[in-house]
Amino acid sequence: MSDHVLVLDSGTTSTRAIAFDLSGRIAAVAQRALTQHYPRPGWVEHDPQEIWQHTLACAQEVVGTVGHERIAGIGITNQRETVVAWDRDSGEPLARAIVWQDRRTADFCATLRDAGQEDEVQRRTGLLLDPYFSGTKMRWMLENEGPVRAAAEAGRLAFGTVESWLVWKLSGGAHLSDASNASRTMLLALDEAQFDEGLCDLLGVPRVALPEVVDTQGPLAETTLLGGRLPIAGLAGDQQAATIGQGCFAPGETKSTYGTGAFVLTNMGQALPRSEHRLLGTVLMQAGGARTYALEGSVFVAGSLIQWLRDSLGLIASAAETDALARSVDDSGGVTIVPALSGLGAPHWDAEARGVVTGLSFATGRAQLARAALEAMAHQTHDLASAFAADGARWGKLRIDGGMSANDWMAQDLADVLGVEVERPDMVETTALGAGMLAAVGTGLFASLADAAQSMRGAVRRFEPAMDQAVKDERLARWRKALEAV
Ligand code: G3P
Repeated sequence: MSDHVLVLDSGTTSTRAIAFDLSGRIAAVAQRALTQHYPRPGWVEHDPQEIWQHTLACAQEVVGTVGHERIAGIGITNQRETVVAWDRDSGEPLARAIVWQDRRTADFCATLRDAGQEDEVQRRTGLLLDPYFSGTKMRWMLENEGPVRAAAEAGRLAFGTVESWLVWKLSGGAHLSDASNASRTMLLALDEAQFDEGLCDLLGVPRVALPEVVDTQGPLAETTLLGGRLPIAGLAGDQQAATIGQGCFAPGETKSTYGTGAFVLTNMGQALPRSEHRLLGTVLMQAGGARTYALEGSVFVAGSLIQWLRDSLGLIASAAETDALARSVDDSGGVTIVPALSGLGAPHWDAEARGVVTGLSFATGRAQLARAALEAMAHQTHDLASAFAADGARWGKLRIDGGMSANDWMAQDLADVLGVEVERPDMVETTALGAGMLAAVGTGLFASLADAAQSMRGAVRRFEPAMDQAVKDERLARWRKALEAV
């Protein structure tokens, strides 16, 4: 009996496969770390073959445990914006993938901004002119990678974000992108079904190299690589998948995922999202061609700051240690960290910004630095909360998830600084769960996402705001001052 869904979650730092049963219980999981390539400051690359091979190996491991006959379909979710270029004939990559964090196209974005293009680009795509998005990365590959250019000239070039790459490999040649991922390329108008010729011309990307834009659920493609014929029935960018996994189906409902970066999405229903405060409009999901939109605040550095404290500075042995360290002191001793290690995202959008630590003294030790690093998460989220409120999307409560949200001290600090209830599911794999819910609906196991949520979502824990206003004011004043130093 096919009563499981297989989720392939291809993230920035690792690839995972998870099998869920219909009550949302994890039946099996496999994980492989992904190599990060940093060829120059501000550049981040992945090997597309490694992404594919790790995904396949994880999928095979999980299917081996659960049995392919028990799997009804596959949901894929992925790090967004990252660009893969491959040869349509050989199915081989033509260059390293340029990762969403990569800043190499900052100059080209500035040129477009100086040419007065930003308003029009934002009006049509919901996005701002920042190197974060895929389109300028594709242009860079065409200009700088010989094999990519040669394949384009020979009509053999395929471009895609990571879900497209995985669908191509799994299906043996279907070239698809779901609308939630496609909306991160800067090549899709939010209200158009397919990639836009004019936007492709503006960025210098040949439309013929791009995939077909499809729904986020339904029978979308199929694979025979995992035993039998398995439909690929759910596709979504990881932040949209987490929003679905958190059950944010009604307009106004909001989640924040603390992974490598931090990404806040508020469901905006069927209305085209328009931000006046430097947030992004994006596709949340698409069914039968009908779209639901979201307003998004993207923060580039969250868990990666803690990784940096651990791996580059050796300040902590494990990320989990930061909880006890933060509790071991009354405050950060005046230390403030602005984690602009790869520029600043929403609502500041400063590609050239770099990180800052203020308030160091001889009293500063590991505990103060660890606490300041965690405090930065609430500070960054508070900036987003102000921008969302100014755009008319005030949060009633915030649903959090992602690896870093397991930190109880940070969860409480978020509630304190934001002044709203923070809700965290006991099972924080909401990104994978959301993709699993899409696949479960896409294969007909549930009639609707609401039904899937009813059955698959589990218990939550709540954190209520408790901080003195004066303490909060002092924290935010210190943060604003540190931001000026960036
Ligand atoms: O937009 C980038 C985002 O999709 C990356 O997510 O979870 O890999 O940090 P994550």
